[in-house]
Amino acid sequence: MESPGRLIADPARRRHARARAAQFVRGAWFARKVQRSDGRLKVGRGVRVSRPYPDTRVELGSGVRLHEDVRLFLDAPGALIAIGADTYLNRRTEIMAKRSVQIGSRCAVSWDVRILDTDYHALDGRPSVDPVRIGDHVWIGSGATVLKGVTIGDGAVVAAGSLVVNDVPAKTLVAGVPARVVRGDVEWD
Ligand SMILES: CC(C)(COP(=O)(O)OP(=O)(O)OC[C@H]1O[C@@H](n2cnc3c(N)ncnc32)[C@H](O)[C@@H]1OP(=O)(O)O)[C@@H](O)C(=O)NCCC(=O)NCCS
Repeated sequence: MESPGRLIADPARRRHARARAAQFVRGAWFARKVQRSDGRLKVGRGVRVSRPYPDTRVELGSGVRLHEDVRLFLDAPGALIAIGADTYLNRRTEIMAKRSVQIGSRCAVSWDVRILDTDYHALDGRPSVDPVRIGDHVWIGSGATVLKGVTIGDGAVVAAGSLVVNDVPAKTLVAGVPARVVRGDVEWD
């Protein structure tokens, strides 16, 4: 087994270790800007939270990872974004909340995903804000969009590029625009 000294002597590993350490340092700094963080937060460069309204909350479980250029927007008074333990949001993913977007633990949210609980405009006078709930151990593929009012069950998978407008049952794979059930009883790791 390599000694720690040997690991540090390897330039590639040294760079990796430095980048990892920087993510934890940014995480510690970022934790002070949110309303709850349970620790071990890892944060990439360019991660931003927009909270122009009062009483908004960002709650992050232990071991949450927010990769480069993730953006969280709390766009109305009282809005909540909650992310469960050991869940990650990959690069450039954006969450927009006017009421609440809650994501469970151990989820993989890929890059360029959009999750929004509001249409931002009212269409034909219908309510334009409805909370989004994403269960535990859900995988959301790259470029997917999840719209207002959607609940995604535990263990579900959303294929890349999907547009999710209806609830997704637990352990179900959905795909397409709009997303339709492809098959049930899926397992992913
Ligand atoms: C979810 C995923 C893994 C499923 O892969 P799979 O099990 O090999 O799926 P299949 O190829 O068997 O496809 C099953 C059906 O769903 C359709 N489908 C699969 N992915 C789709 C997609 N992204 N959009 C639309 N339809 C899709 C297929 O066309 C197929 O339809 P058919 O039965 O009518 O032919 C894959 O589609 C995917 O999205 N991969 C990218 C994940 C990603 O973004 N990873 C980033 C790292 S977090």
